[in-house]
Amino acid sequence: MNYVTLSNELKMPILGFGVFRVPDKKECAESVYQAIKAGYRLIDTAASYTNEDAVGDGVRKAINEGICSREDLFITSKLWVQDMQNYEMAKKAIDASIEKSGLEYLDLYLLHQAMGDYFSAWRAMEDAYQDGKLRAIGVSNFYPNILTNFCETVKIKPMVNQVELHPYFTQQQALETMKEYNVIPEAWAPLGGGRYNPFEDEMLIAIANKYQKTVGQVLLRWNIQRGVVVIPKSTHLERIIENIDVFDFELNDSEMNQISSLDQGYSGSRAKHFEPDFVRMCLSKKIHD
Ligand SMILES: NC(=O)c1ccc[n+]([C@@H]2O[C@H](COP(=O)([O-])OP(=O)(O)OC[C@H]3O[C@@H](n4cnc5c(N)ncnc54)[C@H](OP(=O)(O)O)[C@@H]3O)[C@@H](O)[C@H]2O)c1
Repeated sequence: MNYVTLSNELKMPILGFGVFRVPDKKECAESVYQAIKAGYRLIDTAASYTNEDAVGDGVRKAINEGICSREDLFITSKLWVQDMQNYEMAKKAIDASIEKSGLEYLDLYLLHQAMGDYFSAWRAMEDAYQDGKLRAIGVSNFYPNILTNFCETVKIKPMVNQVELHPYFTQQQALETMKEYNVIPEAWAPLGGGRYNPFEDEMLIAIANKYQKTVGQVLLRWNIQRGVVVIPKSTHLERIIENIDVFDFELNDSEMNQISSLDQGYSGSRAKHFEPDFVRMCLSKKIHD
């Protein structure tokens, strides 16, 4: 496994395992366990995925079997918008995430969206970080203008920004802004999230064939070579194994550019951060009473 170094010197694996839309607890715990067995050390969940407890189960099973220790793992979760109304609510929700996972601390915790009173929520995260409950703190879906304002304002700058990043939405400007503030980029939907149809693209297929790799592996490798952390999701064992097998080949500059030329310049996902209806939908989404 390769690692990136966060601004607080913490090492973060450059490839991890995402568990969005794996609501079934048994399936989630088993996938996490299989992923760790296959060599993954980073697991990405969120309070809103309602599977933090299942992630904890999978992690404990792997640790109990001696596959790795807790210290080898990098467990990420995220604060949902419902709990981003004030400092106290955020504090309580951070504690709830840790408790649900059954782990003593989380390695990374993110503001899931730049919504609600996210500055107050951030102060609760800064305090939890300083108390050692969270080993690193960061944000998600912070577009360049929002990230700039945030970094210029807060006491502790976010160490990571998890945003949509794949060849159809390369977000080059966003990466430059993150670099300016020493924020590590992390890609959600690195395989396209089930959209865009990359697996049928002739150019991607030709590059994959050249290295005797799959299109999925080429997509992941492309982001890794840009210094972006990737967290592909799969509930299929063969794909879990395939998606981590990306460290034995290197795309050349011409291939990197060819892949980047797929950029549409906008997100085709259902998460429409610039649309008022999407913001209102997030603000009203309740994940607990
Ligand atoms: N911060 C945020 O707002 C945010 C938003 C979205 C996602 N995320 C995080 O990012 C993670 C990844 O994003 P994502 O799950 O949306 O998308 P993704 O990882 O890009 O794509 C997952 C989809 O690709 C399929 N797949 C996996 N490996 C494959 C392979 N080798 N070949 C072909 N298809 C493959 C999966 O199907 P199977 O499962 O059936 O294999 C699933 O349908 C999430 O799990 C979550 O942790 C964060």
